[in-house]
Amino acid sequence: MARVLSGVQPSGDLHLGNYLGAIQQWVANQGSDDAFYTIVDLHALTQSIDPAELRRRTLETAAGFLAAGLDPNQVTIFVQSHVPAHPRLAWLLECTATMGELNRMTQFKDKGRGTESVRAGLFTYPVLMAADILAYEAEFVPVGEDQRQHLELTRNLAIRFNHHYGEVFVIPEATIPTVAARVMDLQLPNQKMSKSIPSPLGRIDLFEAPEDIAKKIKKAVTDTDGIVAYNPETKPGVSSLLDLLSAATGTSPGDLAAKYTRYGDLKADVADALITLLSPMRERYLHLMSDPGELTALLRRGATKADEIANATYERAAAAIGLLPR
Ligand code: AMP
Ligand code: TRP
Repeated sequence: MARVLSGVQPSGDLHLGNYLGAIQQWVANQGSDDAFYTIVDLHALTQSIDPAELRRRTLETAAGFLAAGLDPNQVTIFVQSHVPAHPRLAWLLECTATMGELNRMTQFKDKGRGTESVRAGLFTYPVLMAADILAYEAEFVPVGEDQRQHLELTRNLAIRFNHHYGEVFVIPEATIPTVAARVMDLQLPNQKMSKSIPSPLGRIDLFEAPEDIAKKIKKAVTDTDGIVAYNPETKPGVSSLLDLLSAATGTSPGDLAAKYTRYGDLKADVADALITLLSPMRERYLHLMSDPGELTALLRRGATKADEIANATYERAAAAIGLLPR
């Protein structure tokens, strides 16, 4: 079985981009992978978040994983901060990475924009992500397109470390879906849908009420030429609706475009398809959130299993780099 690891920040509600870009693949492959899925609360600290909100969202994200279809008997679900090997390994990797390569990370450039007040953790964020992955000797990392560059960095750090100190790390590979690897904002179709963009109309949260999903699709930005065609460059709004329908139905966006002559009809079908896809998840989510004790117990079991593996990798890396054993 291939070892797999991926993570999501508990910095906001899970949205359709998280599901189609990442979580859907996790669910599809459970049973054939030896998989670890982590709620990366330490990463959420790189931007301002209220402590009570962070605690609440960490549990909500765990409930979201289960509601979306992950089975805790087949995969390990845990909270990043419960496993101390992550930040410990991150330090060894920070001393492997260079300022130059971290400066080239586009996510830092987008969120940090060179301001003095940006948190130092946002700059070193990709190194902590590398530690998350390398600690589990993950061969595959199922993520959306926006994480491709971070995976490249992870590979480079692992290769460099192994070169200097011996074969400690497995070199991981990103697995990025062929459809919906980058789900766009419904109001700003040139930007990716994201937890951090405060545009409630642009984002569809995974456990949103059906009537709200219908409203948001109805208001989604299109264009004025009135032709249903798939061209993400010239017709980003319409193309992104076709992408959503394609992800929900399995038919290619080009074939779907040929079936429609009016934006209204396309939007009605997109809304129906998304409601059909998401409604059962919403029911499960509401049920799970009614018993947080069960979730906490599950996360504790996950952390125990994760801790053992991550700690063993950390110890090997620490020994290889020359830290004296205790
Ligand atoms: P985040 O919400 O940034 O923690 O992302 C968690 C996972 O969802 C990562 O694998 C991302 O690549 C993926 N993801 C986030 N936003 C999108 C999006 N708009 N389209 C596709 N995948 C996404
Ligand atoms: N950086 C990822 C994101 O914002 C989240 C993440 C943290 C992650 N650690 C990871 C993803 C390890 C995959 C593997 O989406």
